[in-house]
Amino acid sequence: MARIGADAQVGESPGRKLKETNQEICIGYTGFGSYLPSIEVTNHDLEKLVDTTDEWIVRRTGISTRRILGTDESILDMAVGAARAAMEDAGVTANDIDDIRVGVNTWLRFPSLASQVQRVLGCTHASASDVSAGCAGFIYAVEEAYNKIYVNRVRDHRKTTALVLGVDGLSHITDWSDRGTCVLLGDGAGAVVMQEVESNGILATHTHADGRHGCLLYSDPVIGSQLRSESEKTFEQEPNSPRTYLHMDGPKTFAIAVKTMSRDVEAVIEKYNARSGASLGVDDVAFVFPHQANLRIIEAVAARLGMPLERVYTDGVKKYGNTSTASIPIGYDEMRGRGNGAPGFEVDVAFGAGFASGAVLRRT
Ligand code: UT7
Repeated sequence: MARIGADAQVGESPGRKLKETNQEICIGYTGFGSYLPSIEVTNHDLEKLVDTTDEWIVRRTGISTRRILGTDESILDMAVGAARAAMEDAGVTANDIDDIRVGVNTWLRFPSLASQVQRVLGCTHASASDVSAGCAGFIYAVEEAYNKIYVNRVRDHRKTTALVLGVDGLSHITDWSDRGTCVLLGDGAGAVVMQEVESNGILATHTHADGRHGCLLYSDPVIGSQLRSESEKTFEQEPNSPRTYLHMDGPKTFAIAVKTMSRDVEAVIEKYNARSGASLGVDDVAFVFPHQANLRIIEAVAARLGMPLERVYTDGVKKYGNTSTASIPIGYDEMRGRGNGAPGFEVDVAFGAGFASGAVLRRT
């Protein structure tokens, strides 16, 4: 892709225009927060559980440690902790929140996690819903919140403040006897506050899914009953409902993850170019926050894009493993929302079960 020239950037309008007034609407992040649970599990701890070694895990995944929920901590605690930190960072209170969206795969019940975040925080007039899109749930939630903020502004001339989270407690669905998955997973939560901003912010979002690969990365059914006879509508109740576990064909998922994440980075840039008339290229992207599944996946995506690893977030996977929907917002919080420390274009990209994936192009 061609580089955008310095001149082209000057006259370029990164936001989207409000038709009636020709006023530019820019929507971005105004606060960041995260919550990592208290228990640290090292590779050496896992050596005692399954036939593995610290050397293998570091060489094949880049992961050294991960955090998991203690018995006195819950998925809701993580969500609330991350949300509170992001709200404090943005300087907003519970009354300011109009919409709560939570990317989550491990809540496994209703009512939604978002509704319980709303209850605990006392965001009494906020709408609340969960988004299930595998490890890409946070990206989907950001896209949905962006669209809601935009539509409320254009149609109802109303400003909206959204609280958007990525939260997962993968330890609750980890099979601790499966060395192909248990070494990868960790728990965590990340949150952002999304609002209209004066300039820059989110320039484009792109989401996609390919359910044909459902059998490569999935969890067991949550409810311990299954339809036995379709004609008689009878259900078989499992005598001792088995625990829900995550299953993954690692090598096949790996290969598709690399191709999909690289494609999505290019797709979100192309989407922005098509709308704005800019000619932004991957070279112009100052920093990428990829989903932290495996350091080798991140390295392969960076290599396909021709992007040096210094411009890619990798700390999360080393310290926290694969925290699913939480990995990108945890990364934001750690880097204080700006990967390279200077203003520039940044891309977030995630991929996971479903195979749901997506990317966000931002200007910081
Ligand atoms: O977040 C959503 C997306 N998730 C991902 O994208 C994860 C994608 N997959 C992966 O990260 C990698 O495929 C894994 C880390 C899961 C596995 O790494 P790999 O390099 O693809 O290993 P493999 O599955 O091809 O296994 C190679 C060998 C096998 O032994 P043999 O058959 O060659 O004797 C495995 O049994 O490594 C063995 N192995 C292990 N050895 C030590 C698999 N897991 C382990 C382990 N420790 N934990």
